[in-house]
Amino acid sequence: MSGSEAPSFETLTRPCVRSVTPYLPGKPIAEVQRELGIRRVIKLASNENPLGPSPKAVAAARRALRQTHLYPEGASPLLRRALARELGILEYQVLIGNGSDEIIRLLCEAFLSPEDEAVVSQRGFIRFKQQSLLMGARVIEVPMRDWTHDLEAMARSVGPKTKLMFVASPNNPTGTYNTRDQVKRFLESVPSSVLVVLDEAYCHYAACRSDYPDSVREFFPGRRNLAILRTFSKAYGLAGLRVGYGIADAELVGWLDRIRMPFNVNLVGQWAALAAVEDRVFLRRSVAANRRGGRSLSTQLRRLGLQPGDSGTNFLFLRSPIPGNRLFQELLRSGVIVRPLDEYGLTHHVRISIGTPAQNGLLVSALKKALTLS
Ligand SMILES: Cc1ncc(COP(=O)(O)O)c(C=O)c1O
Repeated sequence: MSGSEAPSFETLTRPCVRSVTPYLPGKPIAEVQRELGIRRVIKLASNENPLGPSPKAVAAARRALRQTHLYPEGASPLLRRALARELGILEYQVLIGNGSDEIIRLLCEAFLSPEDEAVVSQRGFIRFKQQSLLMGARVIEVPMRDWTHDLEAMARSVGPKTKLMFVASPNNPTGTYNTRDQVKRFLESVPSSVLVVLDEAYCHYAACRSDYPDSVREFFPGRRNLAILRTFSKAYGLAGLRVGYGIADAELVGWLDRIRMPFNVNLVGQWAALAAVEDRVFLRRSVAANRRGGRSLSTQLRRLGLQPGDSGTNFLFLRSPIPGNRLFQELLRSGVIVRPLDEYGLTHHVRISIGTPAQNGLLVSALKKALTLS
């Protein structure tokens, strides 16, 4: 090969890199405005908080901006301490990540080699599969039951090579959750040599359900093979700052701490998240607004003949009468961004975040138009 010839990066990349299909994020508002030349665009595609961030978090972020010539504290110690206090655990049992997405990645990097297996649910949050594949591990995908993680079947699929099991409860994109009894039985049946990752990104919205467990208090104590993931991106309204956290055995936190980027969580994010933890009023308001919005939007969708599933989250999962991607395109023309689910193999379903009453109204009008035209 002469020096000027361009290398084929496809052949140079590790084979497992080629096996990863890219994550498709919700389409950004600015992109739709540019492409379609429309000004009024709403995004109901990424399960962000329609109330915005907590005003106290914004004030803390503003103050922190004056310090941005400095590196942040690497291990986010103040935030770890605040969360530990809030959750009744030790700060050494908390790891802060660049979104909980980073912690999914760290877990896969720490545990999975090509000879290992990870167990996921077929319609579970897709990042579990993508990150496991990136490590070259074999991914066992267990079918769901009633759009919910089938924990009994997942437990049965554990083999000698299984190292990680991922459960999102509530799950994205289906919005369903596993009950206290289901999770308890599952944790009791999984061998202690397998790490169970319980992703609770949407736990604040499900907490009002009497059969949704308070996993940190009910399951975490004394269970070294359980890691719980949570995020500031949803009910706390800080998706843009990228802060999430893991709750795990102190030794495991130590291993993950060793392989994370030295300054993985930026300074503004750390301060804003700290203020957000303390703003309990905002959190309650977000959850209550979501509950009201979800009920009202579900009723309006049913009037259109649609059947959103029961959701323990801030989004609705529903079957579309036309291909989901077509519905997405039609709604875009009215300036409403929703999420088609082809990457999950669901060609006739969409996921729609619950917005403010005004946003939900725009969505319903756009849906009427899209469904009568098609
Ligand atoms: C189930 C689930 N887990 C994890 C994440 C990642 O969240 P973040 O990286 O913003 O903390 C998401 C984001 O949508 C999610 O839906």
